[in-house]
Amino acid sequence: MSNCFLFCLSLLTFMSIHNIFKLGENMLVNMIKMLNEAKEGKYAIAHFNINNLEWTRFILEECEELKVPVILGVSEGASKYMGGYKTVFDMVKNLMDYLHITIPVAVHLDHGSSFEACKEAIDAGFTSVMIDASKYELDENIRLTKEVCDYAKERNVSVEAEVGHVGGSEDGVVTGILYAEVADCKRFVEETGIDALAPALGSVHGPYHGDPVLAFDRMEEIKEVCNIPLVLHGGSGIYDEQIRKAISCGICKLNINTELQQAWTKGVREKLESDPEVYDPRKVIKAGEAYMKEAIKAKVALLGTRHV
Ligand code: 13P
Repeated sequence: MSNCFLFCLSLLTFMSIHNIFKLGENMLVNMIKMLNEAKEGKYAIAHFNINNLEWTRFILEECEELKVPVILGVSEGASKYMGGYKTVFDMVKNLMDYLHITIPVAVHLDHGSSFEACKEAIDAGFTSVMIDASKYELDENIRLTKEVCDYAKERNVSVEAEVGHVGGSEDGVVTGILYAEVADCKRFVEETGIDALAPALGSVHGPYHGDPVLAFDRMEEIKEVCNIPLVLHGGSGIYDEQIRKAISCGICKLNINTELQQAWTKGVREKLESDPEVYDPRKVIKAGEAYMKEAIKAKVALLGTRHV
C-alpha cells in the first residue's frame, strides 16, 4: 500500500518536472539560440508584430503548423492597446498552453524607448527586448543600451538595439532614415554586448514610397566586423530578391508588421462587403485569418527558416 503510494508520488513528481522542463526547453525562449542557428545556417527568423489575441493565435498556429521558431514583436503602443506587458505576456503564455505550442517562441519588446520600458517588459516575463535609443547620439545610445543589457543578461533575456535610424512611421511617430556607419556598429557591439544588431540601411517602417534602396555592401561589411546576427526592420514591401540578398549579407531576423496588417484587413474588408448582415465580431475578425496565414507561410518560406 505505502509502496504503491510512493510509486504514484514519484510518478507525479517526474511528470511535473518533465512538464516544467518541456515548458522551458520548447516554448518561451530568448532569441539567442534561434538567431545564432540562423546565422550559422544562413537563413532568417520571422519577427511578426502582434496587435491582439487573434493575431497572436493565428501566428502561433501557422508557425506551429510550419514547425518554425518565431519572434512575437510587441511595440509599446501595441502593449498599451492590449492592456500592458503583463497582459500580453500572460495572453501569449496561456495561448501557447491552450494550443499545445511546441516551437520556440520569443516574446520581444519592439522599439523599447527607455530603460524603464525594457525593465517593465522583462519583469512581466518578456524573453527578449529591443532598446531603441537610436534617436540619441552614439555615446548615449551605447550607455543606455549597456544599462539594458546588464539588467537583461542577469535574467536570461536577449537584447537587440539599433544604430543609425530606420525611417517611416512606427506607432504613429514618423522619422527619416539615417544610415548606420560601419565603425559605429563595431564600437556599439563591442561596448554593449548586445545579442542582435539592427543597423539602419535604408529600410522604412510602413509602406515604401518608391522602391526600397538597401545598402547591401555596407550590410556585408557590418556583418564581417560585428559578427553577430543582424536584424532588418521595415520588412514589409521589400522585394523577395532583396530579402534573399539581405540574408546573404548577415540578416538573421526580419521584422514584419505592415504586410500582415494589409493581409488581415483585406480579408475583413471582403467579408464586410460580401456579407453586410454580419455583426458577430468573432466572424469579422476571423475573416482575416486565411490571408494572414497565407502571408506568414510565404514569408517563412522566403526566409528559409529551418524546421525544428
Ligand atoms: P513594417 O511595418 O514595415 O513591416 O516594419 C515592422 C518593423 O520593423 C517592426 O519593428
